[in-house]
Amino acid sequence: MISFRLNGKDVSVDAPEEADLLYVLLNDLKVNGPKLGCGRAQCGSCTVLLDGEAIRSCVTPTKAAEGLEVTTLEGLTTDGRPSRLQQAFIDEQAA
Ligand code: FES
Repeated sequence: MISFRLNGKDVSVDAPEEADLLYVLLNDLKVNGPKLGCGRAQCGSCTVLLDGEAIRSCVTPTKAAEGLEVTTLEGLTTDGRPSRLQQAFIDEQAA
């Protein structure tokens, strides 16, 4: 069992320690923010914050998150509203 905080909530997952964090987030924890792109730490579509530092979750073993805070795009909202940066992307229809 691997335990960490995900977007402010304590979570525990029964996943192999070497399983890439991206797949645990998508498949076990049903988070939609990070995406699978290249799968080789090159495109950044799987980026999440690990204790505030941007990491590529497609090449990060889940055990690296033990006891730490993982923040995805969903965790950047406040009361379901987008952050100022997210709102700027929405307003400008940026990708
Ligand atoms: S999927 Fe491209 S960097 Fe992770």
